[in-house]
Amino acid sequence: MGASILDGKAIGAEIRAQVKAQVDARLAAGRRAPGLAVVLVGEHSASQVYVRNKRKACAEVGFHSALHELPADTSQAQLLALVDRLNADDAIDGILVQLPLPEQIDAEAVIERILPAKDVDGFHPYNVGRLVLRMPRLRPCTPKGIMTLLARTGQRLEGLDAVVIGQSNIVGRPMALELLAARCTITVCHSRTKDLADKARAADVLVVAMGRARYVPGDWIKPGALVIDVGMNRDEQGKLCGDVDFAAAAERAGWITPVPGGVGPMTIASLLENTLQAAGLRA
Ligand code: GUN
Repeated sequence: MGASILDGKAIGAEIRAQVKAQVDARLAAGRRAPGLAVVLVGEHSASQVYVRNKRKACAEVGFHSALHELPADTSQAQLLALVDRLNADDAIDGILVQLPLPEQIDAEAVIERILPAKDVDGFHPYNVGRLVLRMPRLRPCTPKGIMTLLARTGQRLEGLDAVVIGQSNIVGRPMALELLAARCTITVCHSRTKDLADKARAADVLVVAMGRARYVPGDWIKPGALVIDVGMNRDEQGKLCGDVDFAAAAERAGWITPVPGGVGPMTIASLLENTLQAAGLRA
């Protein structure tokens, strides 16, 4: 294996320790703990796992966290009423509504209802717009965590060719904006992209967020590339795996994230940073 491993588990733990130190300092100064409200609607099993992990991380750094579990048949009006209450709650600095939401709910309307200053996911059009304009405030957690990982390689990103596979609002689009702000040249690929393999092979930085088990083979990797695998899939044996064929890609990449233990812990670390930042914005 040629590639260095980008260890999100270890780097995420360092960030969590830094956040905890700042929370401890806040408490020592007689200020309240940052508070995060997590809203989970219905029983989406992956979401339940993500939410459990987020709340555990909050407890470890000393945040106050409140879980609001609503039934799958919750109405749009009920969910908006909860968001309004959380917006007005002084103990709550961050509001996270776990996606996806059941189909009777208009997710965009819910996201827009969250006060931008409490939008720790960075999904509100206000925060997305600030990212577009290179004046970021609360930044989407997964791309932010990936930028932290890329910074840890010590490689200069300026001028590199970056290819993002996936155009979701949660990962692909904000990822492209982050890389553009870092002065990479960006290509965003999606299900209608022609010659995906050729585009991937030209990437100095390759971020894959397509949600297909081991879809990207080793020979799509440019030698020495920085490879970031956002995928979280189960293979036929039920084993967790990414969107990239890790063993083959690691033969060619310069740096690569494993799954699990790469991007996932960084998403949570960024959520903690954002919640602390949101508490600062409101202080
Ligand atoms: N669903 C998958 N990823 C995320 C995320 O980062 N935030 C929220 N709210 N929902 C998600």
